[in-house]
Amino acid sequence: MLSEIKVIDKKFELLINEKEIKKVVKKIANQINRDYKNEEVIFIPILNGAFIFAADLIRHIKIKNKITFLKLQSYIGERSSGKVRKLIGLTEDIKNKKVIVIEDIVDTGETLVKLLELLKKYEPAEIKVVTLLLKTENYIKKQKIDYIGFKVPSRYIVGYGLDYSGYARNLSSIYIEKL
Ligand code: IMP
Repeated sequence: MLSEIKVIDKKFELLINEKEIKKVVKKIANQINRDYKNEEVIFIPILNGAFIFAADLIRHIKIKNKITFLKLQSYIGERSSGKVRKLIGLTEDIKNKKVIVIEDIVDTGETLVKLLELLKKYEPAEIKVVTLLLKTENYIKKQKIDYIGFKVPSRYIVGYGLDYSGYARNLSSIYIEKL
C-alpha cells in the first residue's frame, strides 16, 4: 500500500487503510442489521462516489433489502455543493418504505439536505443516512446523520470511490491532500 500518491497536480497521503475501512464498514452493517431486525429497507447509494462503499456494505447486510442507485443533477458540474436540483434514476417505489441513503462523504451537508428534501416528496415511511466520511469541521446542518464511518479533517480526500477530477476512485485506501 502506498503511503503517498500523486493525482494530477496534487499530492495525497494515506489517511485510512484498507483494513480499517473493512472493519468500520462491517461495524456499520452490523448496526443496521441490529436496528432493522425483522424489517425491510431500501438502500439508496448516491452515485458516483458511494458505489464502492455501498457494494462492500450491502454484502454484510442480513435484513431483507432492495438497492436502487441515485444520481444527483447539479446546476454546474457534479461538485457544486448545495446546487442539487433533480434526482436521476429513482426506479423503486419508496412510498411508505424505510429508506437508508448511502453517501460517501458529507462536507457542508448542503448536498445531503437538498437530497433528503427531494426524497421526502416520494413519501417514504422513514429516511436514515449513512456516510462513510464526515468532515465535522465543515458540517453546518442540523440534519442527523445516523451512521458515520470516520470523522475526517476538512481537506480534500480521494480513494475508495472518492475522486479528484474523476481520478483515483479505484484506490482501496483513503488518502488526504498533503498540506
Ligand atoms: P457538501 O454538499 O458540501 O456536503 O458536499 C458533498 C459532496 O461534495 C460529496 O457528495 C462529494 O461528492 C463532494 N466532496 C466533498 N468533499 C470531498 C472530498 O474531500 N473528496 C471528494 N469529494 C468531495
